[in-house]
Amino acid sequence: MYKLQVIIGSTRDGRNADAVCRWFLPVARSHAAFQLEVLDLRDWPLPMFQETIASVGDFANPTYSDPLVKRWNEKIGEADAYIIVTPEYNRTIPAVLKNAIDTVFFSYRFRHKPVAFVSYSLGQTAGVCAVQHLNQIMIETEAVPVRTPTLIPLVGSAFDAEGKPSNPGLGVSLSVMLDDLAWLTKALATARAEGEPPPAALRLRSASPRR
Ligand SMILES: Cc1cc2nc3c(=O)[nH]c(=O)nc-3n(C[C@H](O)[C@H](O)[C@H](O)COP(=O)(O)O)c2cc1C
Repeated sequence: MYKLQVIIGSTRDGRNADAVCRWFLPVARSHAAFQLEVLDLRDWPLPMFQETIASVGDFANPTYSDPLVKRWNEKIGEADAYIIVTPEYNRTIPAVLKNAIDTVFFSYRFRHKPVAFVSYSLGQTAGVCAVQHLNQIMIETEAVPVRTPTLIPLVGSAFDAEGKPSNPGLGVSLSVMLDDLAWLTKALATARAEGEPPPAALRLRSASPRR
């Protein structure tokens, strides 16, 4: 079994993230490939990103500016794969989620691991703008995004009193997403075990002419 972390990207009171998670977490937990851990950003009150080379300290055993930043980087490093649950805020992801991703900047802990997205919004767009931005953001971390997200439109009425989705198509996209995530998780874990090149940004910088 591979370690799958689910990052919940909304922290406000009364969040619709809870209805989404009530439905999809048991499905993800029942997937044979994964051992699941939920990382609720409510439990990780990270400071706004402010790291520098100096605050990171020794890269072999970094201190960072805050013990929680260090723990967050270590926690992210434990997983083989990720699912990010995000609403759409002003056509992108919540600032608290972007901050949590940026906070992993210096340790490259997302690197060469697959990531899938569950998004939702009150309107018809289902958070697709947030997912498009997450694709770009996570590629920059050198994570590998899964092609198929689970997009939930009209989240206020998407689930019945028992938490089941009124649109059966949601279950189909979740199933495809989880199976593709599992395949990529195995492929990338196997590849990582055979060795990894240094991060692309570091290689590009070292190959650039110095000024
Ligand atoms: C700050 C803010 C910005 C929002 N912007 C959008 C948006 O751009 N597109 C959209 O479809 N819904 C937008 N919404 C509605 C959210 O998709 C909806 O409130 C959703 O439930 C938020 O997730 P949460 O309840 O888990 O925090 C916005 C909501 C908030 C609070």
